Amino acid sequence: MEPAIRADGLRKSYGDVQALDGLSFEVERGEFFGLLGPNGAGKTTFINVLVGLVRKDGGTAEVFGFDVEEEYRQARDRIGLSPQEFNVDRFFPIHEVLEHKAGYHGVPKAAAERRAEEALKTVGIWDKRDTRFDWLSGGMKRRFLLARALVTDPDLLILDEPTAGVDVQLRRDLWRVIERLNAGGTTVLLTTHYIEEAERLCDRVAITDAGRVVEVATPDELRERGSDQVHVTLGESPTTAPKLDVDGVIETELDGDTLVVTAGGGGRVAPDLLRELEHLGHEVVDLRIRRASLEEVFVDMTRTDEPAADPEVVG
Ligand SMILES: Nc1ncnc2c1ncn2[C@@H]1O[C@H](COP(=O)(O)OP(=O)(O)O)[C@@H](O)[C@H]1O
Ligand SMILES: [Mg+2]
Repeated sequence: MEPAIRADGLRKSYGDVQALDGLSFEVERGEFFGLLGPNGAGKTTFINVLVGLVRKDGGTAEVFGFDVEEEYRQARDRIGLSPQEFNVDRFFPIHEVLEHKAGYHGVPKAAAERRAEEALKTVGIWDKRDTRFDWLSGGMKRRFLLARALVTDPDLLILDEPTAGVDVQLRRDLWRVIERLNAGGTTVLLTTHYIEEAERLCDRVAITDAGRVVEVATPDELRERGSDQVHVTLGESPTTAPKLDVDGVIETELDGDTLVVTAGGGGRVAPDLLRELEHLGHEVVDLRIRRASLEEVFVDMTRTDEPAADPEVVG
């Protein structure tokens, strides 16, 4: 079976800026897939290529086996997009905006009305159905964008920073909706700056930088790459950090009565570490392992020596 998304050698430049520079990866059907990368990595450009808003310069992109340009209609009808920027018709009540959207994708009127109702209820703003988009609060606008992505009952749901700037409660609400859809078989492509979001939701993530994919892995696999910290509280604090002859230990520092041991895999080295400390005559009072976060690994993988780009203006 064709994957939900297949991107192969995608290229797109804006003048001197190479927004996509040979971007390649695949997303399996049913996957919850995260697209991570710093501002300007090309994530939104990639999404815009998929939905036909940006014309690529080279390479191929397919959605469920349909070429996004040659078979635009088939590809586009399978995608529901919640875009990074608000782009909503402001002059109609939001339930009508949804009905128009469904109609545009070939859903008959009665079914479109049903779908619009269902989508607004799913995201929890059915009571706002007669309101115009402009009059919604920021959080409700985000909910609405998700509803609009859902109204065509898409096989592929694309969420471009869906929780940017929303409060924790709303973020959790949106997660719950998206997780339920994915459990029901909808493939999800998510871009996010919240590493916690990627760790919690995604089966796999692609780390992108400068228009290319640096790495594709599960969040767990990526975390394995990072180094953990083992915090050991000793009964009597030594004056200097003991020299430890333990495989996997990278660095040992003394912080008050706590020994901070940086190691390749905290869980693996902990038993040897305890044995070695005991052997050296130390009493271990407490031991905690702080696992590397996806964020630390991510920052390492995408760090360049150039000064950071200006923060993206969201407007
Ligand atoms: N319409 C455009 N015109 C000129 N440059 C653009 C345009 N869209 C994006 N870019 C540039 O392309 C690069 C990738 O942008 P984008 O795809 O928005 O990245 P991301 O979504 O990962 O932050 C950035 O350098 C951005 O400034
Ligand atoms: Mg973007």
